[in-house]
Amino acid sequence: MSTTRFLTGITTTGTPHLGNFVGSIRPSVAASLRPGVQSFYFLADYHALIKCEDPVRIQRSTLEIAASWLAAGLDPEKVTFYRQSDIPEIPELTWLLTCVTGKGLLNRAHAYKASVDKNHEAGRESDDGVTAGLFMYPVLMAADILMFKAHKVPVGRDQVQHIEMARDMGASFNHLYGEHFVLPEAVIDDNVATLPGLDGRKMSKSYDNTIPLFSSRAQLQKLIGGIVTDSRAPGESKDTEGSALFQIYQAFATPEETAALRQQYADGIAWGEAKQVLLERVDQVIAPMREQYEALINDPARIEQTLLAGAERARQAATPFLRELRSAVGLRSLVQASSAKAAKATKAALPSFKQYREKDGKFYFKFVASDGRLLLQSTGFDAPKEAGQAIAQLQQSPDALQALAARLAPVEGVTPADVSAALQALADAAAA
Ligand code: TRP
Repeated sequence: MSTTRFLTGITTTGTPHLGNFVGSIRPSVAASLRPGVQSFYFLADYHALIKCEDPVRIQRSTLEIAASWLAAGLDPEKVTFYRQSDIPEIPELTWLLTCVTGKGLLNRAHAYKASVDKNHEAGRESDDGVTAGLFMYPVLMAADILMFKAHKVPVGRDQVQHIEMARDMGASFNHLYGEHFVLPEAVIDDNVATLPGLDGRKMSKSYDNTIPLFSSRAQLQKLIGGIVTDSRAPGESKDTEGSALFQIYQAFATPEETAALRQQYADGIAWGEAKQVLLERVDQVIAPMREQYEALINDPARIEQTLLAGAERARQAATPFLRELRSAVGLRSLVQASSAKAAKATKAALPSFKQYREKDGKFYFKFVASDGRLLLQSTGFDAPKEAGQAIAQLQQSPDALQALAARLAPVEGVTPADVSAALQALADAAAA
């Protein structure tokens, strides 16, 4: 079974709330445990700089989000879990992609357009207060995704356009420089509900209606007490439809428990009592994680170590891949073969040496083109080591052809230039 690579980033600007848990953390952790998937989850702290200029908040949020994901069961052995800014290849790839991205494409990004529209409404200049960081946001995000050849990117609906842009950028690059990038797809899980917040609107930092995931039980009780309800009295039957309280309960309870609460609504449960039921159910899920969270948040050195180990693993893929990309665009050693032909030869099947022993007891080798054509045939060597040394010399440089001329039998229809070119292709591939 081939593995599918999933990748997603979490911007480090806020404190995780119940909506993040239900909509992202819980399903992502569960997905990472499925067989046949390889997951890359990272803290998008470069992205955070676009929205937040408070260094303390960036650092604190990175700590809180890392601790939350780990407390929720993310296994850093299974998931490559890292901090974006620990991967210097990401900003470098951002630049390579920037150079193949139409400015017009970025003009159409929703987040940028929203800022421009707001400025127009207020009678300001289009780009008033818009940083180049906001404008470039989709390119940085494309670098995140393309770097790790992700197939699937689980995101909220608001991010789908960014995944499409990453595809566009990857395709442009591939078109210009050869097939280097996997083109990613967005995954939107329609089964995960968006959680309502205290006021009944979608739970979101921007509405200031959230319940922090790791509130103490007392805080949780206070916040749940503040969830909007209607004015129906105890004994009056209540609507589950449009009840924020009910929807939050549903996200934490089993279907049977949910059915039971629905019945209690119909039977006229008092709002105070319903809130108590919700508190108990949410706390039952959160309490064990809360303990873990407290331990983690009080040991930042441990989290730091986990993230650095994740970055090291991520860079095992990123460093050689970026080297390949740099070479593809022409950022490469001056002594490296420069023609497009050499680049193609590197990617295509390479010529190869074959060593064998004949009935005469001697050791031979031949050099065969990628299409099977015989290019070189040796005479017999007394020891396999001698044959091996001759091969090594030829692999290092076509110049060895001259020195070894006496040990090579002529092959009909093969010119010295053919042989040299094939040896050069081999040497280039080894140097790449
Ligand atoms: N922009 C994403 C968000 O705000 C976070 C993010 C950054 C991301 N890089 C990513 C998500 C790469 C998926 C893949 O939600």
